[in-house]
Amino acid sequence: MAEPKENVLMEKIVSLCKRRGFVFQSSEIYGGINGFWDYGPLGAELKRNVKETWWNTMIRQREDVAGLEATIIMSPKIWEASGHVSTFSDPMIDCKTCKGRFRADQTDEIPCPQKPSKCVNECHGEKTAPRAFNLMFQTYVGPVQDDSAVAYLRPETAQAIFAQFKNVMETSRQKVPFGIAQIGKAFRNEVTPRNYTFRSREFEQMELEFFIKPDEAIEAIHGSVATVPPTGHPGEPQPNWGWQAWHQYWVEERVRYYEGIGLSRQTLGFHIQTPEELAHYARATVDILYKFPFSKRDEKGELKGEELEGIAARSDFDLSQHARFSGKPMGVFDEELRGAWGKLPKEKQDDLWRRYYENRKKYLEKSGVETELASKQATEDANGLAKGQYIPHVIEPSAGVDRLILALIANAYTEETKTDDKGKSETTVVMKFHPRVAPIKVAVLPLLKNKPELVAKAREVYDLVRTQMNSFYDDAGSIGRRYARQDEAGTPYCVTIDFETLGEKPELLNTVTIRHRDDGKQERLPIGDLAAWLLARVR
Ligand code: GAP
Repeated sequence: MAEPKENVLMEKIVSLCKRRGFVFQSSEIYGGINGFWDYGPLGAELKRNVKETWWNTMIRQREDVAGLEATIIMSPKIWEASGHVSTFSDPMIDCKTCKGRFRADQTDEIPCPQKPSKCVNECHGEKTAPRAFNLMFQTYVGPVQDDSAVAYLRPETAQAIFAQFKNVMETSRQKVPFGIAQIGKAFRNEVTPRNYTFRSREFEQMELEFFIKPDEAIEAIHGSVATVPPTGHPGEPQPNWGWQAWHQYWVEERVRYYEGIGLSRQTLGFHIQTPEELAHYARATVDILYKFPFSKRDEKGELKGEELEGIAARSDFDLSQHARFSGKPMGVFDEELRGAWGKLPKEKQDDLWRRYYENRKKYLEKSGVETELASKQATEDANGLAKGQYIPHVIEPSAGVDRLILALIANAYTEETKTDDKGKSETTVVMKFHPRVAPIKVAVLPLLKNKPELVAKAREVYDLVRTQMNSFYDDAGSIGRRYARQDEAGTPYCVTIDFETLGEKPELLNTVTIRHRDDGKQERLPIGDLAAWLLARVR
């Protein structure tokens, strides 16, 4: 039976990634280690570029977001407060026949260890009852390996942001609404890593926690909370935005980001989490999906897509948890709110007070605080609101670097077949990366290797561009072969130094040919203009 088309495509992608040095299996010489991947020379550049585009878009180009780089191992109390110690688990089952260990919620997708390469749960052996398997990797800090020394490798970067909320707010002199963003490694002991790098055990996240005022505060200050059309970008942030407008804003901002690095809207999908799927603290979550070759298909046969990023409205859950567990206040004081509250009619004050009280009480009771204590604490919190104090709510766009790399690789992969005059056809691979993320921005190629004047000029051009962007020098083989190698690496521009560069036609002295990867078109440019021309296209 023929392999499904998309599996063939994934196999080709995996093989290209290894052959060209995008992705290698970690510890390959020892047989590999399941769920861990290394990035080779081209992959490392691609990853660096992706992280830089994210950091620039989310932090440097905004006035309302500050950056953070926190440690991977943190106080284990953080993971108690966040709920990861008690609830961050997958249901695991064992097969009594093949001894495989699987996620109970994915039994239709798991590879059977008896024929790992071929069958998908073909082994219909009897399974054990599901049991919770905590996904956090555990270690010990210090020389004594007892319970008091247990620590965890962080399973998400987000919690460090909440724990450092006050420090960052104070040192960056930000005021709500504002965000804190971080890129870094995360670790999850996934029961079944799968789909190449898509679900790994060590991966990187790019997360923003964007802190906003609770809707009751917005209503007190502005009279009402802005309503925004249910779809589309709601425009520039407005002071009267509540959580729904901010949530929609971040979904659309993130889609624009993906479009800006080459993933068109048609390649993306959306999943609005149902109430049953939502985490208990989340008010809404929208997942941005990419239509990977291994994604499932809908009834119409269209690829549905797999999660690239989740954008969650997490209420004030996280900061509240850290306030309770650490005993340190996480609230902010808002002068504008205090002033506005005093001018509100009594019924409005009562209405807002009651709604805030109800929300706080609901949160406290859900977190296991006993009813009487929860009422007392919620009363204090609502009294605080009337004095201009609240715990900020948060909108969290959380993206996976490795999933995005895989999406960019799958999106770039293009096969082109050319037939020569003699009717002989050849298929080559062109990796059509957006120039902003392409690992190599420009390749400099002397037309011939054995002409010292051409080589010297080419080295001069290479030295000029390499200080500005990642560049590659190649003089080995025919020019056609060299173009083909750069096409496979995804290099958007090749610069060729020929005899005209040296002045064979005086009017073309010190000009070079630029060849465009995607259509093979060529144009001539003075060497003096080259760096600026390239920079305008690759940044
Ligand atoms: N702080 C929220 C959070 O961590 P998540 O949906 O569990 O939310 C966010 O993870 C993103 O991290 C996902 O959308 C995905 O891109 C990436 N991610 C999560 N688990 C992953 C894994 N095992 N391998 C690769 N990427 C993963």
